[in-house]
Amino acid sequence: MTVTFDEAIARDQRIEPADEMPEGYRKTMIRQIAQHAHSEIIGMQPEGDWITRAPTLHRKAILLAKVQDEAGHGLYLYSAAETLGADRGDLTRRLIEGRQKYSSIFNYPTLSFADVGVIGWLVDGAAICNQVPLCRSSYGPYARAMIRICKEESFHQRQGYELLMTMMRGTPEQRAMVQDAVDRWWWPSLMMFGPPDAESPNTAQSMAWKIKRHTNDELRQRFVDMSVPQAAALGVTLPDPELRWNEARGHHDFGQPDWAELKRVITGGGPMNEERIRRRREADSDGAWVREAAAAHAAKGMS
Ligand code: 3HC
Repeated sequence: MTVTFDEAIARDQRIEPADEMPEGYRKTMIRQIAQHAHSEIIGMQPEGDWITRAPTLHRKAILLAKVQDEAGHGLYLYSAAETLGADRGDLTRRLIEGRQKYSSIFNYPTLSFADVGVIGWLVDGAAICNQVPLCRSSYGPYARAMIRICKEESFHQRQGYELLMTMMRGTPEQRAMVQDAVDRWWWPSLMMFGPPDAESPNTAQSMAWKIKRHTNDELRQRFVDMSVPQAAALGVTLPDPELRWNEARGHHDFGQPDWAELKRVITGGGPMNEERIRRRREADSDGAWVREAAAAHAAKGMS
């Protein structure tokens, strides 16, 4: 006896590609998975800029492995989007033409090697907070992709934190570089979780369809609570004068990110938006001959 989509969701059953699903669910899943994939691919640029400038062969090897992981996460997620009938070439065009989004966080510059550590610690840490619940997302291929991606994200976060620990045991200049990077990346990391729930047009429906298991604000709070003791152990201060433990709530109170900045960055007004899309457009046209050759070769095999 097959169950209906609503019964499957109510029973916490996975929705698989061949299952009946409302068109709105399919569209939302393509939107979220595609934008997640775009984020992984664009996310290669900020850190990729430091591969040739890493201070040691050891740091270069770690950074190379991490950037390659991000590429793999992107391709993995495009495959998950294709199970819903999306075409990855079309998704790439939507990204390049600004008709689909990628995470705001990747529109900030990486000014020093400390940024590589802070991205690992805070950005990948935020990604872990957001992605672990997605391992229980209702759409099967997406949830399964998240399980493998989360394992690699934890390596990403640990390498970043270890890099910062090393710098914090270094010279005063190195410690200042770390604090400067924390000051620049803290608030944009909080924005990764999306607008406040009250201003989120998608959260209610995504929660009802069990695509999201927690709201934007719940995950942001979890990230703040996780980061405060890590910052203390590192010996850096988080740039939020309102940050304090609230015994009654059992959580940290914290200031509000600049939501106008998030809106500006999401709509192309961030410091690096143009550069990120220009390089993605270039990579896409430089790679066209490879795709054409692969398609011609595949067609030969079919004839
Ligand atoms: N950057 C860019 N766009 C954002 C955003 C952000 N930080 N936060 C929200 N938005 C967009 C949403 O996409 C939505 O626009 P759309 O309807 O055109 O897609 C709009 O702002 C309203 O936001 P909502 O909260 O209503 O939208 P969602 O319910 O989709 O929630 C989300 C946004 C929390 C990002 C959710 O889509 C999500 O959890 N996505 C999966 C995780 C993901 O994409 N992470 C991005 C980072 S990937 C990464 O960190 C890689 C790691 O290796 C570093």
